[in-house]
Parts: sequence; C-alpha cells; structure tokens
Amino acid sequence: CENQDGRPLRQRLLVVANRLPVSAVRRGEDSWSLEISAGGLVSALLGVKEFEARWIGWAGVNVPDEIGQKALTRALAEKRCIPVFLDEEIVHQYYNGYCNNILWPVFHYLGLPQEDRLATTRSFQSQFAAYKKANQMFADVVNKHYEEGDVVWCHDYHLMFLPKCLKEYSSNMKVGWFLHTPFPSSEIHRTLPSRSELLRSVLAADLVGFHTYDYARHFVSACTRILGLEGTPEGVEDQGRLTRVAAFPIGIDSDRFIRALEVPQVQDHIKELEERFSGRKVMLGVDRLDMIKGIPQKILAFEKFLEENSHWRDKVVLLQIAVPTRTDVPEYQKLTSQVHEIVGRINGRFGTLTAVPIHHLDRSLDFPALCALYAVTDVALVTSLRDGMNLVSYEFVACQDSKKGVLILSEFAGAAQSLGAGAILVNPWNITEVADSIRQALTMSCEEREKRHRHNFAHVTTHTAQEWAETFVSELNDTVIEAQLRTRQ
Ligand code: G6P
Repeated sequence: CENQDGRPLRQRLLVVANRLPVSAVRRGEDSWSLEISAGGLVSALLGVKEFEARWIGWAGVNVPDEIGQKALTRALAEKRCIPVFLDEEIVHQYYNGYCNNILWPVFHYLGLPQEDRLATTRSFQSQFAAYKKANQMFADVVNKHYEEGDVVWCHDYHLMFLPKCLKEYSSNMKVGWFLHTPFPSSEIHRTLPSRSELLRSVLAADLVGFHTYDYARHFVSACTRILGLEGTPEGVEDQGRLTRVAAFPIGIDSDRFIRALEVPQVQDHIKELEERFSGRKVMLGVDRLDMIKGIPQKILAFEKFLEENSHWRDKVVLLQIAVPTRTDVPEYQKLTSQVHEIVGRINGRFGTLTAVPIHHLDRSLDFPALCALYAVTDVALVTSLRDGMNLVSYEFVACQDSKKGVLILSEFAGAAQSLGAGAILVNPWNITEVADSIRQALTMSCEEREKRHRHNFAHVTTHTAQEWAETFVSELNDTVIEAQLRTRQ
C-alpha cells in the first residue's frame, strides 16, 4: 500500500504501556509540562520511529478534575500520546500494590516483601481486583481509538490482563504482548494466587514476546505445568488455537547516543568532568533506585575493593546515579535509607578533606549530562540482582567508542546473553567476586579493552530498538495471517 505521494503506508501501531514516555507535571488549572519518563521500557520505545504510532498509558499523575483532564489530553496529543486516567485508589492498589509490591519482586525472584508477607497475602484479592479493573480501563481507551487493521502492542507486567480484555472487544484485533522483565521459573510463578488467570489472559494475545529465550521457555513451561496445555516449538496450543511465543531481544537507538557525543554542550560537559576527576579512574552506576538493581551489594563490593587495594583509594571514584522510583512503595523507601546509610559510612571511612570515594545522586540526569558521563567512564558497574535486559549497559557501550571502557555486568541481566562476551560477567551476590572484577577492569590492558569493546559496540549498533520493533510487529502480522489460513483449511 502507498500514500498519495508514493511513500509506503506505515502501519498504525497502538503502543499500550502503563507509563507513557512522558510524565505530566501540573503548572496551573489547565496547563501542564511534560518530562521524559525514566526506565528501560521508555528508553527503548523512544527509539522506535518507523511506525505510525500512538501511545496509550498513564501520565503518572492523578487528575481528578475535568478541566485538568481535557488540558492534559490536548497537551499529550501533540506527542501522539493518549492518557488513561487512574484515580488515587486504583494507583494505590493496582500500581503500588499488585504491580510493584507483588508481580515485580516475584518476577525478579525476590519473593514477596519479607516483613509484610501476611499483610500482602491478605490484601492480595483486593489488589488483584484493582489490577483487573485498571487493565479494563486501558482496554476501554484502546477500544475507543482502535481502527480496523491497527496492531495493538501491549507492554509489560502491568498489563497481563489486557490481551484478554481486548479480544473480548474484538477477536480480530491483532494483539501482541511483550514482557520487559524476566519471566521466572514456573516454580516461582506458581506461588502467585492468580497464576492461572494471568497466564490465560496473556495467552489471549496472538504473539507473546520476551527478551531472552530462557524467559520464553519459563513462560511455556508455566502454561504446560500450571494450565496443562501443550507447549510446541512455536508456542502454546489450547484446543487448536496457537499463541505464538518467542524471544525478541530489545536494543536502543544507538545513533542517538553516538550523535549526542558530537554536540558542543556534551563536549563541554565531557571537558568539565575530565577536569573534575583528573588523576582518578571513573566508575559509574546508573540505576533506578530499585531493589532489583543490587545497589547496596554493588557499593559493598566497592568498599571491599578499597579495603583490599589501599593504593587505589585516592585514584578511583564511584559515581552512582540512583533515579528515585515508586517512592510510595514501602520497600523502595527502606532501600533509599539503606543506600544512604552505606554510602555515608563508606565515605566517612575512606574520604579525605578534599575527596570522597562515592558520589551518590538521588536524581536523574538530562540526556546531554548522561551521555557525557557515559563517555568519561572507565568502568561501568551494572550489577542487577535480576534484570529483564538492562539498557544502561547498551547506552554505556554506545558512548564508549573513544574510551573503550570496561563493562562489569551481572550474569542475571538479560544483557549478559548479548554483551557477555565483551563484558566481565559477575554474580552480583558475591561481593568478593565483584571486588576482584573491579581490580581486573581497572588494570586491563588496552588491547583487551579494545577487543571487548569492539564485540559489544558491534552488537549494540546493529541490534537496535527499531529493528526489535520491526521484527516483533512483522512476526505478529505473519502469526495472524497463518492463524487465518489455518482456520480456513
Ligand atoms: C521497568 C519496567 C517498566 C517501567 C520502568 C519504570 O523498566 O519494565 O515498565 O516503566 O521500570 O518504572 P515505573 O514504575 O516508574 O514506570
């Protein structure tokens, strides 16, 4: 198909995720400003360009009044975003509760919050009801904007119920669902009281995607063991209907980072940072302040390194950017105080009147500052306890073509499967191993760094977010056509 001017017609894509790529901040009764949201999902989806995409999701803010809702809807429309308005109670039960206090830790193998286990178990039913209600609210908005032939792409653990709701509206809708977190072993998934309902709802999609083959395999075995369905090489079969299941490793828009390094503002930042840390090696962590990111363990490993390598104490600095996230969830509040306590203790122990070993920032950086920081870093520490993919590791590699710094990467991040050969892989729970890997990274020869960087740079620049999205959408189109052919036979 073509437009009137002869260009190929781009397929309309409705991207549905809990969080829109922009979050809204209210400036007046009917005025709003929009800021880029944090997190891997947004960072990857911003790199997806070659579609006629509309975004449907929550703008991260409660807007109880009609004037505010109308004004925000208008402001978001300019960014091709469509809001789903969630009230405070729903946000509390669905987002803070079921999504981030239950599904998130369970999917990352951390189990239910320790001190809170009984309370969580008791509130489970009401939170699950809110989860289903919120998913239905997303479905209503999708349905309002859906046009025949659109592809509806649902994202992440917040919206596992959405494929089912959408297919109830129209069984012909092309629906894909992609999980940005790990999907855990079926033995973990089966502990969830809502285990079967969640699986069945996801299976209503035509195509189900994961970052790695292992996550896809765990999902298929959860369906076979818990639901008693048949797993095939293509996916999961239920009474003759196939839900296609496959791995689609995500990437970033690497050109955006590479180009940014040429911008004068970024060059100025780079010079400032080089002067500021001259004579010291720069180690960097960039994470949302989330328990899955293993920030306390990382800092303890750095402490061990300083303890055992006294000659490095005034020659290295760790910059930890910890972006606040989900601040209403008690586990995240506890983590913030824990990290502050550890950083304070280590800086007190190894700091001098003129320098401290750890610079810890509880905030995000703007894009130019972030790129500059990646570019001046000697060693990046990505030591998540579990992580669906982890795109910070990709962003770092994209900005390192002159420096060729070293990436220390958790073996429990999805990225270990793509960047493992170029990185130093570690078990983040083993503080001694991480401390040793810091020493290895700081003393690595130029040739070795160059070789490792080449491998990772080639991967990051060829496996982009755009390619990821194109592969998923074309697989979804093919899956639907094949299913139609099968039913006609
Ligand atoms: C992870 C999730 C995303 C989420 C992001 C930020 O990357 O997979 O779905 O958007 O964290 O978390 P938040 O709760 O702030 O949306």
